[in-house]
Amino acid sequence: MADSNHFDYLFKIILTGDTQVGKSSKPYASDVVWYDDTKLTRTVTVLSRFIRNEFNVESRSTIGVEFATRTITIDDKRVKAQVWDTAGQARYRAITAAYYRGAVGALLLYDVTKPSTFASVKKWVEELREHASPHIVTLLVGNKTDLESLRSVTTEEAAAFAAENGMEFIETSALNTSNVESAFESVLTNIY
Ligand code: GTP
Ligand code: MG
Repeated sequence: MADSNHFDYLFKIILTGDTQVGKSSKPYASDVVWYDDTKLTRTVTVLSRFIRNEFNVESRSTIGVEFATRTITIDDKRVKAQVWDTAGQARYRAITAAYYRGAVGALLLYDVTKPSTFASVKKWVEELREHASPHIVTLLVGNKTDLESLRSVTTEEAAAFAAENGMEFIETSALNTSNVESAFESVLTNIY
């Protein structure tokens, strides 16, 4: 389809997981194209990115909620994902119920070099069970695989946890973009 704005399906996907695991990192969500592609929201996006990158290098923690969109083709259909990204830190999180409402997919990230972020996955699963639709498709994502020498969560233990909890599992690196497309494809295909 030549028109890049055309889509057949629109799905709300949420990003969740501890602070600093990589939710807001390109190519997960920092290509922020807000809600409507209006001039105003683009300006806001550019401004917020500018403020973050230029003035707030130390703390890039998400505050509130940000949105990105991405569209992929599955079976000749254009499937558009509206990706919601919020803070891993409780004090910066936006109202939980609204964040989860209408979400059909979730990417639950942890950092493969930080066991505490993997331990927290249980907590995030409970929050999903409490607030999200029981039909939500959840993908467990071990991020930062480029830091292989610092790895402290094994692929096997994470895969086992995912299987026990009825989730798909993938490992990615937002830094070298490895498997991130596959993560979105997996969750969108499962929904579609
Ligand atoms: P909150 O907004 O506080 O919840 O954090 P977040 O999950 O959005 O984390 P963020 O995307 O801000 O990334 C945290 C840090 O991890 C940043 O310095 C990123 O550059 C870095 N980072 C993210 N993904 C990767 C990755 O795959 N590999 C490496 N080496 N660093 C990464
Ligand atoms: Mg963030």
